[in-house]
Amino acid sequence: MNIGILGIESSCDDTAAAVIRDGYILSNVIADQDVHKRYGGVVPELASRAHQQNIIPVVDQALERAGIGQDEISAIAFTKGPGLMGSLLVGSSFAKGFAIAREIPVIDVNHLQAHILVHFIKEEGKPHKSPEFPFLCLLVSGGHTQLVIVRDYLNMQIIGKTIDDAAGEAFDKCAKVMGLSYPGGPSIDKLSKSGNPEAFQFTKPRAAEFDFSFSGLKTNFLYFIRDNLNHDKNFITNNQADLCASLQRTIIEILVEKCIKASESAGINEIALAGGVSANSELRATFSREAEKRKWNLFIPEIRYTTDNAAMIAITGYYKYLAAEFAGLDITPVARI
Ligand code: KG4
Ligand code: ZN
Repeated sequence: MNIGILGIESSCDDTAAAVIRDGYILSNVIADQDVHKRYGGVVPELASRAHQQNIIPVVDQALERAGIGQDEISAIAFTKGPGLMGSLLVGSSFAKGFAIAREIPVIDVNHLQAHILVHFIKEEGKPHKSPEFPFLCLLVSGGHTQLVIVRDYLNMQIIGKTIDDAAGEAFDKCAKVMGLSYPGGPSIDKLSKSGNPEAFQFTKPRAAEFDFSFSGLKTNFLYFIRDNLNHDKNFITNNQADLCASLQRTIIEILVEKCIKASESAGINEIALAGGVSANSELRATFSREAEKRKWNLFIPEIRYTTDNAAMIAITGYYKYLAAEFAGLDITPVARI
């Protein structure tokens, strides 16, 4: 067929470009932004400036690594939202400019839908197995925590979501309390490996049905640390690995319990994970154990497709291209969807 899609992702603090041809990945380039590390979170103004600096070199590299010319790109897909407006504007403006220059269609992509569709990215020479429709996807990222029934590439139904913080936010905010740098999820993952997950007990906030809540856990963690620091000023350093492991276990238990409930209620055993938090090694291991126990067909993305990337935007663009779902040049990004 030769449908070449250039994907652009710029919703938060990663500037990314990728090329997918006929569903096969040809290149996947990401420039992250170290500038935010010292602020303990993403600074929107700095993020949009960094996107502006990175976008052209990143796209050039993506095309070069793909080994194809601009004339082989059939359409350009970009993240429409949700995300930081200043960051999204850089990607969408670039995409529109590229589309006008090359006289090709532009495709707007929902970032969350894209996280889920990573399960359909194929790689030349590698066996590939995708989930069958309908499947249940647990989407866990820095900004979102959702349970989604995926009926088709472009037909998804959110059956549960967080009513306050996202799972990634719980990792990041608690990491900050312990003085770990942003994003805290990967550090907690690493430190947990030498900790005792049963050392401390934290609150598991309740939420109805398939919804999630993490804000009470974050507050509980903060107060617990503050109280203990009153008795022992080295409490964090002396207990860091145990604190990380216990917090991580609590977050994972919340996620797994809801996923089991949703799977039983929907009668779906085809289960997929997606989003940055699905890079967590203990989450992956726990879900693998549950899958064995419950006879789930479990799909866990490769690590490089868990956190923000443009391959996910390109694959979504590919399916929207096949469905002839194009955007007009008057399309504008949206911070919330
Ligand atoms: O999907 P993503 O890259 O961006 C959003 O769309 O939000 O997710 C980023 C989130 C951050 O909260 C980060 O701490 C978390 O994913 N994360 C992890 C791990 N790697 C990334 N959380 C726990 N363990 C990890 N290994
Ligand atoms: Zn994301």
